[in-house]
Amino acid sequence: MTEKVVLAYSGGLDTSVAIPYLAEQLNAEVIAVAIDVGQNGEDMEVIKQRALGCGAVAAEIVDAREEFAADYCFPAVAANALYMDRYPLVSALSRPLIVKHLVAAAEKHGATIVSHGCTGKGNDQVRFEAGLAALAPHLKVVAPARDFAWTRDKAIAFAEEKSLPIDVTKKSPYSIDQNLWGRAVETGFLEDIWNGPIEDIYDYTKNPAEEREPDEVVITFVSGKPVALDGVEKSAFELIKELNDRAGAQGIGRIDMVEDRLVGIKSREVYESPAGITLIAAHMELENVTIEREQARFKRTVDQRWGELVYDGLWFSPLKDSLEAFIGDVQTHVTGEVRLTLHAGKATVTGRRSETSLYDFDLATYDEGDAFDQSNARGFVELWSLPAKLAAARNERIKTEAA
Ligand code: ARG
Repeated sequence: MTEKVVLAYSGGLDTSVAIPYLAEQLNAEVIAVAIDVGQNGEDMEVIKQRALGCGAVAAEIVDAREEFAADYCFPAVAANALYMDRYPLVSALSRPLIVKHLVAAAEKHGATIVSHGCTGKGNDQVRFEAGLAALAPHLKVVAPARDFAWTRDKAIAFAEEKSLPIDVTKKSPYSIDQNLWGRAVETGFLEDIWNGPIEDIYDYTKNPAEEREPDEVVITFVSGKPVALDGVEKSAFELIKELNDRAGAQGIGRIDMVEDRLVGIKSREVYESPAGITLIAAHMELENVTIEREQARFKRTVDQRWGELVYDGLWFSPLKDSLEAFIGDVQTHVTGEVRLTLHAGKATVTGRRSETSLYDFDLATYDEGDAFDQSNARGFVELWSLPAKLAAARNERIKTEAA
């Protein structure tokens, strides 16, 4: 019986060439699966036809946009997820979702092999395969770019030899991955980390230096989940999409960084995540007014670990589940509204209000008639500083004795 391979198909040169190549190498039938995670750009129907034109026996398009927004982007907001304090996990968030749909397609078609286009140098191979190991350990994995040591030139030559319906001249000098949560650009001249990014590489954001009118937005959250913009309720996908447009128009969410990959190398990447950066800024501020201090302090550590686990490909893992139990519990009272000014590359919080706020005006005010009893403060400060005072006195004594 011919084996069946489910291929994670993007419509680009590498995964297009992989179709006839896998069929030849493995003597198998290839089923191409393209997942729509809100990547701006190509028509999914065109992508489907291209897969069939390259020799896939079947091609499936999965519209996972709402699922991605609600079940992957929003948990990242709850965790204020910024890897190395900066990167909103754009690619890392989409991989587990893609894996889930690949596994479903493999089941449906009775495939025994799953294939992806990642090289051996990146994080995404780990995310795909760690996800598969957790969800469907019986499936074999073949990654042609890595396992058959494929190069770009080889891919182009193969495409020409087989007269595949793809325009090899359209291949960009950059490696780009994009979805609803943002866009990642690497390689080309960016590999010299002294070279500044040029305007050309950006797509989700306008130049923040250009003059324009500021925009103001009010974001409503219910238990840590964004539910409305300017008082108008939206689906998860619609909300992120609108914020991408509005914050992107103000040049918000550009990130140029050198990051620590799981495979050990440092790499330079330029990101754009207008909605991601705006939502996390708003959510962090609402947490500041609604979460008790000790929970808030502890959550910063939890948030960081959550981001690292997701970056490192452990979306489906026990520790992430446990951290989410904590994060979910803490989100209970993260309900309210945050107002932000979007302008000149920045999303700046200018107001917050919440029925479940812990901010108490009567305690905080410096005006007459506040409810804070300052006479309690003297004794508190004395006891608070007692341990350090004792240690300082001891050190002083030892110093004098030694002299
Ligand atoms: N470095 C990012 C990550 O590991 C993005 C990877 C994909 N980037 C790309 N430009 N193809 O999550």
